[in-house]
Amino acid sequence: MLQITPLHPLFAARVTGLDLRTPLAPELRARIEAAMDAYAVLVFPDQALDDAQQVAFGQAFGELEPDPSVVGDDKRRVGHAAMNDISNLDSAGRILAADDRRRFNNLGNLLWHSDSSFKATPAKYSMLHARVIPPHGGETEFADMRAAWDALPREMQAKLFDLVCEHSLIYSRATMGFTAFTPEELARRTPVPQRLVRRHAGSGRLLLYLSAHIGEIRGWPRPEALALVRDLMEHATQRQFVYRHPWRQHDLVVWDNRCTMHRARPYEDKLYPRDLRRVTLRDSAPTLEQPR
Ligand code: OGA
Ligand code: MN
Repeated sequence: MLQITPLHPLFAARVTGLDLRTPLAPELRARIEAAMDAYAVLVFPDQALDDAQQVAFGQAFGELEPDPSVVGDDKRRVGHAAMNDISNLDSAGRILAADDRRRFNNLGNLLWHSDSSFKATPAKYSMLHARVIPPHGGETEFADMRAAWDALPREMQAKLFDLVCEHSLIYSRATMGFTAFTPEELARRTPVPQRLVRRHAGSGRLLLYLSAHIGEIRGWPRPEALALVRDLMEHATQRQFVYRHPWRQHDLVVWDNRCTMHRARPYEDKLYPRDLRRVTLRDSAPTLEQPR
């Protein structure tokens, strides 16, 4: 029997009593979607999925994002084209060297972000599965962007309501001092516009659509824009808005990128393997084209 147990006063819940390796019945999918709309982050413990099963579970909810890697390997470690390799391993399964550019790029996940906010049509759900976890550290934190919006003063909400931000992976990586993109990578990652204030289709609630990928606010001088974004980031990631997930092997965590941010926490990534794999669902349209 499906059981939903809240993990935090504002959002996030644990879901038990189902086996995600088998095809998902439509009524079960509808219950998970309803729980996603309410909680935005769902933890499914003890799901020993392989790549094909994880992909099939994702496909039950809609269209998967193709072409996951940006700073890639010539050879992919993970077999499925729609699967994102969230690990510190190379294609031979070895821990990435301290000076490997893929490692530097991966360190960008330590910044609060929403997945694929740098794509014209960003991500809806991300589904991250733990295959191998390190002995300590490496948690993932989530922040509730609907609660963060609700807690803003009215005057601030009015000031933000119609702002449009420019997002690019290049911006977030530059924040981390990583600028070693090839000309092709630069050309593929030109900034895309996204609304700063969105309405969440699943719950009807307004939210702050923040991400480390923001590098500009349309029509604003950059220092003024970045000062505001930094301030909003601080507001939105106060502890009362944050759920921290300590991983156990075979956890599947599904989050709604439309109304949460997340970040990785550090671990000894030069010593221990951490092998997580992600399947990502596309949102319906660019945020400027979505109803509000
Ligand atoms: C991701 C991500 C954080 C982590 O998979 O999109 O940001 O803790 N992961 O690995
Ligand atoms: Mn991410």
